[in-house]
Amino acid sequence: MLQIKNLNITFGHGTAKNHALKEISLSVQRGESCGLVGESGSGKSTVLNCISGLLNNWSGTINMHGKALQRKRRMEFYRKVQMVFQDPYGSLHPRHTVDTTLKEPVAIHGLGNANQRVEKVLSEVGLGPQFRFRFPHQLSGGQRQRVAVARALILEPELLLLDEPTSALDVSIQAEVLNLLKDIRGKRQLTYLLVSHNLAVVAHMCDKILIMNQGEIVEKITCAQLQRGDLQQQYTRQLLLASKGYNRTAIDQFQDY
Ligand SMILES: Nc1ncnc2c1ncn2[C@@H]1O[C@H](COP(=O)(O)OP(=O)(O)OP(=O)(O)O)[C@@H](O)[C@H]1O
Ligand SMILES: [Mg+2]
Repeated sequence: MLQIKNLNITFGHGTAKNHALKEISLSVQRGESCGLVGESGSGKSTVLNCISGLLNNWSGTINMHGKALQRKRRMEFYRKVQMVFQDPYGSLHPRHTVDTTLKEPVAIHGLGNANQRVEKVLSEVGLGPQFRFRFPHQLSGGQRQRVAVARALILEPELLLLDEPTSALDVSIQAEVLNLLKDIRGKRQLTYLLVSHNLAVVAHMCDKILIMNQGEIVEKITCAQLQRGDLQQQYTRQLLLASKGYNRTAIDQFQDY
């Protein structure tokens, strides 16, 4: 479904120049769930932003279904590829009801049956009809993120780009939303590219995991390899340790790679 080759991007000029992505190559098959893990600033969101078209000063190739994507995307692309952001507080318009938020993309793409679509997608994300005319401030964090997922699903996309979809949520709610996303993928046969700094989250959600460090992909592993602890890079072992919780002696031994 998605194939990226030698993706590069730099921000800034002169001494402030930052080569944020260096020769990133990856591929995601249809129906696959691929995870992108790495510490803060390693370039995970930047990869998603290049794919989704939010950034356009990249070089390299991004192919979807074997066809190279141009800097300016077709309307159809914005229907097929949807993004869910980290912060459900910032990503929903504060003065739009859930109903308005969900109907907006339907109108933009000229699709019919808006009411039916809204009802269907709300029940799919586990929100009853009583939520339909609420404003974001009348929802909990988990419920807001469910609305953000519903907004992504309402256009019947093929590929979901999920940028830390649960890291702004309470730990108990995180698992709920992750399981919801997992169920939806199974039912809709969606393809996911999921970003997280938490290896445990990605292990729960993904078949294949890419480890990023300082703008590069340093290791590609399967979920089975992760469970066996079959890791090549010391950096990946550190990430695994970090995602298991706070351990003072282990953290003191961390090194920069
Ligand atoms: N629009 C931008 N302009 C300038 N620099 C940017 C821009 N977007 C990202 N960067 C820089 O690129 C690098 C990678 O950022 P990115 O947001 O992709 O990291 P990340 O892995 O998503 O981190 P986090 O886990 O904290 O979200 C950082 O050094 C960041 O400062
Ligand atoms: Mg990020």
